[in-house]
Parts: sequence; C-alpha cells; structure tokens
Amino acid sequence: MLDLLVTNANLPDGRINMSVAVQAGKITEVTMGLTAPAHQTLDAGGMLLAPPFIDAHFHMDATLSYGLPRVNASGTLLEGIALWGELKPLLTYDALVDRAMAYCDWAVANGLLAIRTHVDVCDPSLLAVDALLDVKKHVAPYIDLQLVAFPQDGVLRGKEGSDQHMANLKRALDKGVDVIGGIPHFERTYADGTLSIKLLCELAAERGLLVDMHCDESDDPLSRHVETLAFETRRLGLQGRVTGSHLTSMHSMDNYYVSKLLPLMAEAQLNVVANPLINITLQGRHDTYPKRRGMTRVPELLAHGVNVAFGQDCAMDPWYSLGSGDMLEVAHMGLHVGQMTSQAAMRQCFEMVTTNAAKVMRLEGYGLEVGCNADFVLLQARDVIEAIRLRATRLKVFRRGKLLAECAPATSELHVAGRPLQTSWMV
Ligand code: FE2
Repeated sequence: MLDLLVTNANLPDGRINMSVAVQAGKITEVTMGLTAPAHQTLDAGGMLLAPPFIDAHFHMDATLSYGLPRVNASGTLLEGIALWGELKPLLTYDALVDRAMAYCDWAVANGLLAIRTHVDVCDPSLLAVDALLDVKKHVAPYIDLQLVAFPQDGVLRGKEGSDQHMANLKRALDKGVDVIGGIPHFERTYADGTLSIKLLCELAAERGLLVDMHCDESDDPLSRHVETLAFETRRLGLQGRVTGSHLTSMHSMDNYYVSKLLPLMAEAQLNVVANPLINITLQGRHDTYPKRRGMTRVPELLAHGVNVAFGQDCAMDPWYSLGSGDMLEVAHMGLHVGQMTSQAAMRQCFEMVTTNAAKVMRLEGYGLEVGCNADFVLLQARDVIEAIRLRATRLKVFRRGKLLAECAPATSELHVAGRPLQTSWMV
C-alpha cells in the first residue's frame, strides 16, 4: 500500500489529471489517472502540484533585523553595508537564532524548502556562523540550508592589510560552511577585486567546494569582475560549480562588450542569481531620470544557455525593508523588471525559483520525477503562470511525503446583487 497518493493534479510542465504516488519518502510513480490503495489520498482538484520553491541567494544572519539600530535612510547598498557594520557588534547568538528560525517558519509556510544563505565571516568571533550552523541542524528535517562563507567587508580588506578576513573565512569552512563567497567589487581596488576572485576560486579548487560570489553589484558599467570569475572557473576546472550573484553592472555595460561576455559565461557554465526585489530598489540610486532598473540581463543569459535563478536576497534587513520568503513574489518582480511577458518567459520565471535554483544549489533528488524526494507544494492555481499572477496560496506543503504546512484557499465572499457569491481570482 502506498503512503500517499495525490490525484487530479496539474504539473508545471503542463500535464493535467496526473497522479503522484509516494512510498518511503520518494516518488514512485507519476501517471495520468492512477488509482491505488494508499494510507493517505489527496485529491488536488485540478490545482498545480509543483516541486518546492528554492531560494538560491539569501542573508539569514541579517534577516528580520529591520530598524536595528536604525533604518537605511538613503536606500543604497553602501549605507546598507555601513548599517550592517553598526548592527554586528550588537548581535547575540540567541537573537540570530530566533530571527533565523522565525524566517524558516515563514519559508515552510510558503513552500520554500531549500535556501542558500550567505553568512558574514568578517567578525573574528564567527558568532553568526555558529548560530546559522545550529539553525541548519534544527531545520534539517524540513529545510535544506546551505551556508556560504561571505566576507562582507572584503576578503582582502582586513585591518592594515592583514589576512584576517581570509583566515576567518577558512575557519568558517573548517566549521562546516558549505560554499565559498566573495565580494570583488567591494575590495579596495579593482586589482584587489581580481586577486580576491583568483584566491577564492583556488581555495575552492583545493577544497573541492562550490563558489558563490556577490559580483559586480553596482551600476558601474566598467565593473567587469564577472569576466575574471568566468576565466578562473575555466582555468581551475570549476565549470558548473561557480555562481555569480547579482551581476547588476551587466545592466549598464556596453552592448558590444556583453556580446563577448555572454558566451564566456556560458563556456564556464557559470550559474547566475539575480535578486529582483532588492536590486530594483538598491540600484539606480545615483541616477536622475531615466533611472536604471539594475537587474542583470536575465533573458539574454537564458538565451545563451546560462542557468539563471531568482533569489530573495533580503527580508526586513539593513538593505530591504520588505520581503516575506515568498518566492512567487520574487518571480513576479523578476518577470516585470526583466519584461519577461511571453508565455514561455513567464514559465521560465517559475523555473527560476524552482528547478534552476535547485541546479544552483546542486540539490539531489529534486523534482517531480520517479525516484525524486516526495517534496512538493499544492498551489491554489491551475498552472505556473496563474501561480505567479496570483502569488498563489500554498494549500499544502509536503516534505518526504509528510504534510509540513497547510493553508485554507484564498477566496472572497461577495455581497453584490446578481453576482457569484464567491471569487478566488482564478480563470
Ligand atoms: Fe546578497
């Protein structure tokens, strides 16, 4: 007898009336109209059953700290970094864990079951690293949390040129942090930025680790560290293991240069994470009008075969005052900022918060195929485009075939004479 059988589900690839059978936490069958005895049966009622949402770029050490010790008045990236510097000495282990756990509750409710979070390693106590490693253990039964050792202040910007930040980063990796981070555009000079990429990629090659760098997060059209990242990736044989996050300068780059850059990125099999919510608010702040959008060139990257995901990046922290762990909100914003309005492009936006993001994190057993983990979300929408349009309610969230969260359908009672009594915004 099956553990769970979901019937009458629409799948993200367009198949309808599908049944998904689950045994021992794995998907054992995906077939149209299957009926079989099961301990638990769920009639999806023609709603969309999708693999869980994945956030490939987040900062869980800063989340839910909005207003501490003050808010970001200018709304810029640089004031956000300065503000985080003011907050860091005030952080406590308990507060870091409490805020991260609260965010993870939001994530589960939203069907967000894997998160790659950067964690600042510039504080020699590595307080945030210890806190998030503990959070990772706590949430492991329901969220895959991947940590990136992120030298927020610049890996080469230790006091008086010391290598303290690099030493901290290595200690964080020794403690069990999974991925190597960086921030070349924030190093003191362009040359230091280039050197930081070389050193960090060499460290990744030496330790057999993945790389995910904040890269070129500015409106400077000449910030071209992504080129070095692609070069080092190929030189060290790290193809497919390296991610460039943000890459907002690509928005402002010369088109001719980009025509050369895109094939280099594809050749290096770089992953890209764009963060539309945060970058539409942070970038273009030095512009009058017209104001640049400041999101990297998502449709062009996809057209060149580059794997691109959308990330949440921030939720209620020194850089961004909103956010709720809702990856459909992220996809919705990315769709608008990237003008990705064709049917195919809207479907790609859904993939960028599911399958493409899973590829960035190199998650195993992800998807709605036989043999995959029985992790899925039932959405109050009939297809992926409707899911994005409505930021659809997560009716049920399953992990390894067990129910983690559920929510009543969003409907509104109408009191309008001669009209239907209820509406749910679906067509
Ligand atoms: Fe970030």
